[in-house]
Amino acid sequence: MKRKQRSVEPQREIAINLYRSVWEVRNDGWIHLSDNANQLADAASEGGDVELARARVAETLDLLEPIESYWAFPGRHGFLRLLALFQDREYADFNDLVHRISRALSSQSYRKSFVSLHLDEEAAVEEEERRETEVRVDRPYFELLIVDDLSAQDEETLRKRLRSMRRDEDKFIYEIVVVPSFQDALIAVLFNFNLQACVIRYGFPLKSRYRLDILHQLLENYEEEGLESLPESERGCLLGTKIAQLRPELDLYMVTDVSAEDIAGKLCENFHRVFYREEDDRELHFSILQAIEERYQTPFFTALRVYSQQPTGVFHALPISRGKSILQSHWIQDMIQFYGLGVFLAETSATSGGLDSLLEPIGPIKVAQELAARAFGAKRTFWVTNGTSTANKIVVQALIQPGDIVLLDRNCHKSHHYGMVLSGANVVYLDAYPLNEYSMYGAVPIRAIKQRLLELRRAGKLDRVKLVLLTNCTFDGIVYDVERVMEECLAIKPDLIFLWDEAWFAFAGFHPTYRRRTGMGTAARLRERFRDPDFRRRHAEFKEQFGNPEDDRLWLDTRLVPDPERARVRVYVTHSTHKTLTALRQGSMIHVYDQDFKQKVEEAFHEAYMTHTSTSPNYQILASLDVGRRQVELEGYELVQKQVDHAMALRERIATHALLKKYFRFLATGDLIPKEYRPSGIEAYFNSEQRWARMEECWHSDEFVVDPTRLTLYIGPTGIDGDTFKHDYLMEKYGIQINKTSRNTVLFMTNIGTTRSSVAYLIEILVKIAQELDVRNEDMSPPEMRLHQIKVESLTKRLPALPDFSHFHRFFRCGTDSTTPEGDMRKAYFMSYDETLCRYITMPELQRQVAAKREIVSTMFVIPYPPGFPILVPGQVISKEILAFIEALDTREIHGYRPELGFRVFTDEAIGAVEPDSAGGAPAARIAAAPAV
Ligand SMILES: Cc1ncc(COP(=O)(O)O)c(C=O)c1O
Repeated sequence: MKRKQRSVEPQREIAINLYRSVWEVRNDGWIHLSDNANQLADAASEGGDVELARARVAETLDLLEPIESYWAFPGRHGFLRLLALFQDREYADFNDLVHRISRALSSQSYRKSFVSLHLDEEAAVEEEERRETEVRVDRPYFELLIVDDLSAQDEETLRKRLRSMRRDEDKFIYEIVVVPSFQDALIAVLFNFNLQACVIRYGFPLKSRYRLDILHQLLENYEEEGLESLPESERGCLLGTKIAQLRPELDLYMVTDVSAEDIAGKLCENFHRVFYREEDDRELHFSILQAIEERYQTPFFTALRVYSQQPTGVFHALPISRGKSILQSHWIQDMIQFYGLGVFLAETSATSGGLDSLLEPIGPIKVAQELAARAFGAKRTFWVTNGTSTANKIVVQALIQPGDIVLLDRNCHKSHHYGMVLSGANVVYLDAYPLNEYSMYGAVPIRAIKQRLLELRRAGKLDRVKLVLLTNCTFDGIVYDVERVMEECLAIKPDLIFLWDEAWFAFAGFHPTYRRRTGMGTAARLRERFRDPDFRRRHAEFKEQFGNPEDDRLWLDTRLVPDPERARVRVYVTHSTHKTLTALRQGSMIHVYDQDFKQKVEEAFHEAYMTHTSTSPNYQILASLDVGRRQVELEGYELVQKQVDHAMALRERIATHALLKKYFRFLATGDLIPKEYRPSGIEAYFNSEQRWARMEECWHSDEFVVDPTRLTLYIGPTGIDGDTFKHDYLMEKYGIQINKTSRNTVLFMTNIGTTRSSVAYLIEILVKIAQELDVRNEDMSPPEMRLHQIKVESLTKRLPALPDFSHFHRFFRCGTDSTTPEGDMRKAYFMSYDETLCRYITMPELQRQVAAKREIVSTMFVIPYPPGFPILVPGQVISKEILAFIEALDTREIHGYRPELGFRVFTDEAIGAVEPDSAGGAPAARIAAAPAV
């Protein structure tokens, strides 16, 4: 095929540089174009101001032209037809075609049936007939990107050739999008969520006619100069690598006109296959469909469906199986009416008949878990049917033996604290930075983690440090620089294991911005980096300059580089798949990327999995995990990006709405992340000049970033506390559900199911509440107003300081002379089973004793909701800061605290507090009675 003459036009800014979302720009663009085309047609037929209407249309066409060049429908062909009608001043036909396209786009009917772009009736009918056999309904549709610098005519020929390959039995149907350059290919991959596969041909230029700033940030500012000098023949390979970084789920193919054998030998792992020019079009077509099928397949869900259709006699203990106990009932028929029969046909306890066992999978569950591992970038994935609460305990039990030291974020989910008790870990609690103004915590700074590791090293205990356990992202949406944390920690202890609790972050692996800060994404990158000669050189230089200084401050002040020869990549991630992706409640996953798993962990993991996994796992949960995986592998990118877009829209609308601004504000990165952790210096992702472009910058450089899909609304100026706002305003009046509040904030979470209408609804409700507040304020009597001001002040100014973890009592420290803070919570936990070692103490008495510097030690977890982290753990000494905090809390629930009795604490005798020197010497008989620890 002939190549087009390459143009040397200057690059044109693409609309997305200024807007939040290309899809919203596109949707809105077509709505405007429809309106403008209507006006133009009216003006032309009724003698109105045609030039004015024409100018409006031209402006919208200009906006849409670059965007449309990356989509198959209406595609370059259709758009050119539109432009031609406009230029020929055929305004009625132009209007007609604009409406046809716009309707097909908004209803997405182009995915389901052929949409003719012919205006000539006869030609349209003819075309329609030709397509009659091509029934798309029920055949999922996708788009195939072809990177080649083709003329319009050659493009059409190629399109026809690929269409001619279609067969009735094809399970999927696709259309092509052709882009001419390296940069265009990347823009298409970012814009077009319909893409599922990409064919890269040889010899295309580098530059696009369009410029898109975020591209550079997403590709980590790759050297454009380096690319310019790269021979055209090598660009294909590099493009494959870059596309795989952005959207690893896309299937990549190369079609070459040089020796395919030669290329195949050099190809990176990202390509599915290499083909020699046109000779293998049919093979290419089959390969494309086959690869989609590999993602589409759901082995367990399919097996369950097949099973549910088989006639079976039920002679086991599950009366609900096949709906039998319901169908025969006179009283519970409504259960079937509500759920339908399908779910009960699929209810079984059989592990035979094509089904599999979660505990020892060898069939469809095994394969489905392997597919999940591929999707989430893990080496191994394990499904869990009892939520991440269980997933976390499994991982901790598998990795930790009694006496191992674990560095643990004190604000992490309670499952970890209980996991520490069960495993007998010696815990070093890490303090997250506090956000006193909003009564919430941030995350744990790398400096604090390094400091603990260095202390333990100095004390000669580094060999006992096994695990660092952090929450990424936190409930409030604070996300770590996962790469930095792991690299720097591995520089101090090369075989350290990491457990990233990503209960809220399962979606993050399907978007390039987020993926960089996930445990699995980073593990894969580190593994590659440690093999890279450039990194080895970097480490050698670092080692030479840094040496092995005595002074810990130097270790703290320097960005440490791990030794690639010694560092092991040992990363575990837990996902509450059900929280952020499609899965039934309790559907969670454990993802493993541990180089030493087979050698050191597999057996223990198996035992831990057996310990916590039900022998009757719910098959519907398992099936939903399988289907949820299919969804993210095929449309995760679209769903996540749209979720971000909706969240951004919500932020923008609140920030710019005059009434809402009076009472509400979404906390921005500058509010949630202190300056010292934000080298970008950026205070908010949005500003009027650069609009949303700055978010990428933060995600590149800052120690912590805020997940924009979690929106913390500051409501201090309303004078209503978070809990009351949640219950009395959002839930009771408007049926809006949220699950986290602090004293002066409420957290709204968007998810992949959030729509533009739900965003609009929330804004509407907030406006109504703001109007109500206006009326309330206007009607206040002077004493009421004074009271209100006091409340506002208490919510905005007088907030109790959040306390750090105090310390474990020396009785529970590991060795009475320990200079490091680790404590044995299990010892404290089980000691408290003996009533005689415990007592209750009221708040006033406790305050008196703590003020008198008595060491009072909690026997149990005390957890106020909100904020939901344990303010006290077993074995912890109660500090005056903790008491001040508890006293200032206006929380309804404090688990572990009984107002009528007070706090449950150890008696002085139990912990030897009376005789400080005999820490190990508490009354011997009693301690002996405590369970062995
Ligand atoms: C950080 C974190 N980890 C783990 C869990 C527990 O997850 P699940 O509800 O799936 O048991 C939660 C629950 O809210 C959580 O916030």
